[in-house]
Amino acid sequence: MSLNQQATHLRHREGAQTGTKYIAIASGKGGVGKTILSLSIGRCLSDSGKKVLIVDADFGLSNVHLMLGITPQKNLAHFFYGDASFEEVIVRIGDNFSFISSGNGIYELAKLPKEQVMNLVRRLQELAEDNYDYVVFDTPPGIHDDTIAVVSAADFPVVITTPEPTAVADAYALIKIINRENETEDFYLVVNKVESDKEGNKVYESIRLLAERYTTAKLRHVGNIKYRKNLIRKIIEQNPFEKGFMEDVYNILSKMSPDVSPRRRSFWDSVVARLLGR
Ligand SMILES: Nc1ncnc2c1ncn2[C@@H]1O[C@H](COP(=O)(O)OP(=O)(O)OP(=O)(O)O)[C@@H](O)[C@H]1O
Ligand SMILES: [Mg+2]
Repeated sequence: MSLNQQATHLRHREGAQTGTKYIAIASGKGGVGKTILSLSIGRCLSDSGKKVLIVDADFGLSNVHLMLGITPQKNLAHFFYGDASFEEVIVRIGDNFSFISSGNGIYELAKLPKEQVMNLVRRLQELAEDNYDYVVFDTPPGIHDDTIAVVSAADFPVVITTPEPTAVADAYALIKIINRENETEDFYLVVNKVESDKEGNKVYESIRLLAERYTTAKLRHVGNIKYRKNLIRKIIEQNPFEKGFMEDVYNILSKMSPDVSPRRRSFWDSVVARLLGR
């Protein structure tokens, strides 16, 4: 394809890109429910007829596949290095519902020559946007460059915490850093493992007060998820979709969906710009 044709093609894609939405699930502290929330969001969306791809970006202690009992042989890093096609790294979870392990692919991406990175990113963007309505990123806990890149590029940057004070403090720290470094302002907050809505709402209030005072972040509380003692059994059975949990997630999604604002640049351009320091 000539450069001119490529440019026309890209312009065409920019027009078409509003279709696919990117959701990133992040937390300061580990173990607060990112993976189970990512999977449940994926399941709710796919059950309602949307095509969903879950990206396991938790290369440290990757655990989407453990919850599902699926072991992917190849990951996004294989795709980036030309060792696997995109189709080979996709694992089907159900109808309209797939999963890809990023390995340390997104991090590795930044080490490749710029031209190669741009080509890969274009391919990835095309594949994602031709095949999926939603791409959900399950990120590792804590504050890493690639997490910041993915969260700040997402249409829906979702921060999840539990009412535990250390988790709340770490959630606020994550919001503060992403807001300061990337001028990301809109965050969606989910409070998990609550006893009651009152408890979750108090957590939201405490983070909102700090965020209003010390940052320019605007926090939207999209809901709480109750502590469900049956969930652990479902996870052990590798069918981690618990009825009550899923109901809470449906409510969260119904609060998130009307608020989609158009992105200034494409998700993947944003991720790369951040990783390459531009
Ligand atoms: N609402 C809930 N009720 C009961 N248990 C829950 C709930 N949410 C999560 N858990 C439990 O908390 C544990 C951690 O959940 P999960 O693995 O989704 O967290 P995570 O944030 O992805 O962890 P990591 O930071 O290690 O990736 C799981 O074992 C799960 O059983
Ligand atoms: Mg996890």
